[in-house]
Amino acid sequence: MHLDDFVYTSTDFEDKRVLDAATGVGGATVRLAERLAEDGGKEILSVDIDQEQDTVESIREDLDEKASFVTFIEDDIHSLKKVESKSIDIVLCDDTIIFLNRPPLAVLRAIKAFHRVLREGGELIIVSELPDTPDASHTGEWRRWHLAKALFELRGETFAESIPPETLKEALSCSGFIVKGEETSPGWMNTDYEHIIEEWEAIMHHEITLLPFEELKRPFREAVDRVKIQVEEDGYLDAPGKYAIKCIKQ
Ligand SMILES: C[S@@+](CC[C@H](N)C(=O)[O-])C[C@H]1O[C@@H](n2cnc3c(N)ncnc32)[C@H](O)[C@@H]1O
Repeated sequence: MHLDDFVYTSTDFEDKRVLDAATGVGGATVRLAERLAEDGGKEILSVDIDQEQDTVESIREDLDEKASFVTFIEDDIHSLKKVESKSIDIVLCDDTIIFLNRPPLAVLRAIKAFHRVLREGGELIIVSELPDTPDASHTGEWRRWHLAKALFELRGETFAESIPPETLKEALSCSGFIVKGEETSPGWMNTDYEHIIEEWEAIMHHEITLLPFEELKRPFREAVDRVKIQVEEDGYLDAPGKYAIKCIKQ
């Protein structure tokens, strides 16, 4: 089954109150709103730690009349303090779990928060990237990702941490969830990469200014430039494979 069908089409949203964790640029929020409109769902709480007004406005425009389904909430997913216990039927965490695992095991706090806000028998759906292959030669994407990770590491911070599906399933089982289904989708070649690499380059150059190692700033700048050239030579960025796990609150 296609991942999108597994996550959205085959989920019953009738009468459901859904928590979208996290909003980001609104991809999942918009897709959820379409499904709630089709199925006769109740409401979407779209949560992000950083609810920028401009982003929210642009998502509202994309939602059009379906904006009536969505309430935007600024909150930390690790605690979900603004969301009542047992008030949610479905939690969807799409493309965010890698940012909730900083430092490692912090993801358990988020899973605990999902468990608290779900009603008995409620459903948790997690979509995330499959860990990448440690092959530095095959594309600029691998270098792009790991250069960013190294830069954050040298500042004592974590950029993002992929979680293999088997590890996540064990964490879910230990946290009071029963896993009921799983799907994966293969990676693909994204040839529409120019805006992504330009945004990445700007972020990296800013992050390099914050490096506490003066002697590493120049080599890092050069490495960023080389990655950009490599990606342009490749002609694509690797979009990673994804997995989705559906589980039920015990
Ligand atoms: C890749 S985006 C999410 C993509 C989104 N689900 C979509 O479909 O477009 C990751 C988001 O997680 C948010 N985030 C990271 N850590 C968070 C936390 N502790 N609590 C809430 N949101 C968090 C970031 O602000 C960012 O907007």
